[in-house]
Amino acid sequence: MTREIFPPNPNFSQEARVNSMDAYWRLQNQALEDYEGFWRGFADEKIEWLSPYEKVLDESKAPFYEWFTKGQLNVSNQCIDRHLATQADKTAILFEGDRGEVEHISYAQLSQRVNQMANLLKEELGVAKGDRVVLYMPMIPESAYAMLACARIGAIHSIVFGGFSAEALRDRIEDAGAKVVITADGAYRKGKPYMLKSVVDNALESGSTAVSSVLVVKRNHEEINWVEGRDKCYNDLIAHHSTVCPFEPMESEDPLFLLYTSGSTGKPKGVQHTTAGYILWAQMSMEWVFDVKGDDLFWCTADIGWITGHTYIIYGPLAAGTTTVMFEGVPTYPDAGRAWKMVEEHKITQFYTAPTAIRVLHKMGEDEPSKYDLSSLKVLGTVGEPIDPPAWKWYYESVGGSHCAIVDTWWQTETGGHMISPLPGATPIKPACATFPLPGIMAEVIDSDGTPKAVGETGLLCITKPWPSMIRTIWGDPERYTKAYFSDATKAGRPVYFSGDGAVRDEAGYITITGRVDDVINVSGHRMGTAEIEAVVNEDDSVAEVAVVARPHEIKGESIFIYIVLKEGHINTDIKNHINALLAQEIGNIAKADHIIEVPGLPKTRSGKIMRRILRSIAKHEEITQDISTLEDPSIVKRIETTAREA
Ligand code: PRX
Repeated sequence: MTREIFPPNPNFSQEARVNSMDAYWRLQNQALEDYEGFWRGFADEKIEWLSPYEKVLDESKAPFYEWFTKGQLNVSNQCIDRHLATQADKTAILFEGDRGEVEHISYAQLSQRVNQMANLLKEELGVAKGDRVVLYMPMIPESAYAMLACARIGAIHSIVFGGFSAEALRDRIEDAGAKVVITADGAYRKGKPYMLKSVVDNALESGSTAVSSVLVVKRNHEEINWVEGRDKCYNDLIAHHSTVCPFEPMESEDPLFLLYTSGSTGKPKGVQHTTAGYILWAQMSMEWVFDVKGDDLFWCTADIGWITGHTYIIYGPLAAGTTTVMFEGVPTYPDAGRAWKMVEEHKITQFYTAPTAIRVLHKMGEDEPSKYDLSSLKVLGTVGEPIDPPAWKWYYESVGGSHCAIVDTWWQTETGGHMISPLPGATPIKPACATFPLPGIMAEVIDSDGTPKAVGETGLLCITKPWPSMIRTIWGDPERYTKAYFSDATKAGRPVYFSGDGAVRDEAGYITITGRVDDVINVSGHRMGTAEIEAVVNEDDSVAEVAVVARPHEIKGESIFIYIVLKEGHINTDIKNHINALLAQEIGNIAKADHIIEVPGLPKTRSGKIMRRILRSIAKHEEITQDISTLEDPSIVKRIETTAREA
């Protein structure tokens, strides 16, 4: 596989933290030679320890690894207080609303607001260390205050993306045993108000949650339902609270947050991240991959409801003392030039987004970037899904003016931060390629029996050594943690973390991600389990059997394709709308399928296993190459193909 190579911009390299591949290899070799020493050096340099740690890495309970054991620190100190002496007046958060209003929040102001919020949570709502607080919030500064306030007092936040439905929200509130929910009346999108509080009301209406209070931020001032005694208004209460709230000394391994994500089986899992390892890697990866410094203005377009928003809107940028942009709206409103207008106006230096957004912006406004001055940009980033070469090329040339590195960052909710990515001042880039593991990260492409794959052969992407920001467990389900990520470890003969992604290495060692190898679908960078979608569809009385697969999609990367077998005697003339309404209700609009077809049966082996590969091929209109003679009923394949073609 030969691909064009784009060397780093020499002007950028001159100033970069990691300025050559030699420098990269020096760091990586240092980690290989003395893994604990490597991490100790950075932990001592970057973290303000309130009391020293005993051990860098404790592997005695593997795969439940512990980092910087017994050390004490506080993440809100890392992100705010320790910067105050040198840069109190620097903008910490630059907020731009959907309708264009801009607010600069300095580190000093951020400190005051986070302290006030921390006091409010403690004094008004009785939140204490270890309590779970669910955030169902829009992209407004109060969301950042809430996250950092939780970190300050040692409460564990669990953010639920605002696109999830009441049912999905309730499941997550219940699973986490949350005591408090923080939400907003709503916010603005595309110039219009939308509502969030009503979803929280619905979520709490039934079920058995432990929620005693709902803190409501008034953002759009639309009329909302108010439950006396339970609901508290942030805007009315906040001024009564002191701007001084001493931070709680937290142990390195105390949980910092939970974030629910989908797996290949069962319900979404509460990925648990801890304090020291997470914040260390959030800052290190921020500094290496985006190389932020000085007056840089960093904009990550993710939503705080996803891991990208956690690590690269809030924790990474603030730990690194940079200015982070928070944007309430969408980059295509009022037109496809919005993002580029923001880059020009604010002089944004690093821009980080998902390939779906790049494809949309490309399609809607190919020439749009040329209308703006984008010369402030230094580094462009992508995340969440594979980027295709045409989108990459447009991003590189039209947005980056052919002088910005594109960092194609591969990582996951579970990894906490970037794992495989170019370094903008060092790595010669191959388009649409995640390139090399970051220094300190040991990635391998292996067979399911642990043998490394040869050059050019696709295998399983694994991380072979624990790293500081890794998932520690699944909330309330440690067995699932071991099974989901380490069950093949014994086969491999060593404890390796299985990512669920496929990858291939080329002769120069470059790693390209080939996509999920499990039953996880990636729609516009949003991760969904086929099992989770199937469980919802199965709830419908008329459905006998269901199978969900992914189909490649020009913009979204993948879309959802559902095969349904109806029960005998059931006729459903509007199956698509009916099932999509159910999916929207149970999961959210992101789970709606592009294709839902009724078929006479599913292709199964004689032992009853559904042959998903055949269903994937049919969804893609590919020729069926596998042997179907061993199926229980080989004729079913032709009949499904005919239905799929007509759909
Ligand atoms: O399949 C990979 C894909 O996104 C998955 C992780 O999803 P999530 O936990 O929601 O986190 C997304 C943001 C980090 C991975 O298993 N993925 C992530 N980054 C890339 C990617 N696929 C290809 N290239 C990437 N750069």
